[in-house]
Amino acid sequence: MLRRLHKDQPASFEFTPANLAWAQGQISKYPEGRQASAIIPLLWRAQEQHGWLTRPAIEYVAGMLGMAYIRALEVATFYFMFQLQPVGSIANIQICGTTSCMICGAEDLIAVCQELIAKQPHTVSSDGKFSWEEVECLGACSNAPMAQIGKDYYEDLTPEKLRDLIARFSAGEVPVPGPQNGRYASEPLTGLTSLKDHEAGRKPYNASAQLAVDIGETVKRIDGTEVPLTTPWLGKPKAPKSGAKFSEPKPGAGRPADDTGVTVQEAPAQSKGKPVSKDDPASTPAEASAVASEAVKPKGLTAARGGAADNLKEIEGIGPVLEKLCHELGFFHFDQIAGWSGADIAWMDQNLKGFRGRVTRDKWVPQAKIIVTEGLEAFRIRAKTNDY
Ligand code: FES
Repeated sequence: MLRRLHKDQPASFEFTPANLAWAQGQISKYPEGRQASAIIPLLWRAQEQHGWLTRPAIEYVAGMLGMAYIRALEVATFYFMFQLQPVGSIANIQICGTTSCMICGAEDLIAVCQELIAKQPHTVSSDGKFSWEEVECLGACSNAPMAQIGKDYYEDLTPEKLRDLIARFSAGEVPVPGPQNGRYASEPLTGLTSLKDHEAGRKPYNASAQLAVDIGETVKRIDGTEVPLTTPWLGKPKAPKSGAKFSEPKPGAGRPADDTGVTVQEAPAQSKGKPVSKDDPASTPAEASAVASEAVKPKGLTAARGGAADNLKEIEGIGPVLEKLCHELGFFHFDQIAGWSGADIAWMDQNLKGFRGRVTRDKWVPQAKIIVTEGLEAFRIRAKTNDY
């Protein structure tokens, strides 16, 4: 199936404060220079916050990780866990249609979805509660046919059982995930033939169903307020074992990342030896890194001149969150950004919380200079073709 962005997109996206803190915690789990590894959890959290994954959300997450938008888009369009169009307010039901499930009746389950939800997949039902789609193998083949509803698997389904599940979800219930035919896990349908002593003392449900019951958020969306968000990895670092050779993973320490999300470690060979003036704006992350040691906080204003800030969001790459950060740092006007030196840019690249390297990567200074020298209308025309 062709997976592409929905034609109707919201104007912007930003994480709630709680989700932003959670996302920054996720990023900190990865070793220096590998922050882009957090792409999937961050996209997932963005989807949970909004309900589906929008273009502004993908761009926002790419910006947080210092990745090119296209790389984040590649991830979002590859995995069908990411919903690229509006979905039902309760759940998007994913019916596995691959071999085992198809042989065991997946087509009958799809017929139920077509009857109760919508004739076509990726279509929200008339009551707005559900949508459905057919997906490839979800790895529960021994319990075919099955469906993923929300975050969890409902297995050993029949058309009647799926009807019942949809009715119960619709009524506000969250049925227990796992096998729906009385099986505990994926043992033979006739019961265990070996390891029978394992039955004694086991929990009411198999491990994944039990976890789903314990967590209790199968179809509950996270908006940053309802579910406690924990970042245990941000706790006190463990003391290294004696003789340990490796230090704890740590984030990129503020250094800008290249387009693949890898932290720039040092200037490339061709720029070594090249004198870098702190007054020359750095045009690449590598050059910004080279002047980082001389970075000093650029002098900002205490308030916008005349009480009216410029709309910094005119600059490609600056959204509401970054504009707010600029204001907090004392930058309200295009001419301030246009006047940043290389050392200023290096400092900004290091200190835009969650958006490191953005000033250089998105060419804020060249854009601001065009606005200042040629005016906003001329800039908008040039921006359409990225002519800056
Ligand atoms: S074939 Fe359906 S889960 Fe594998």
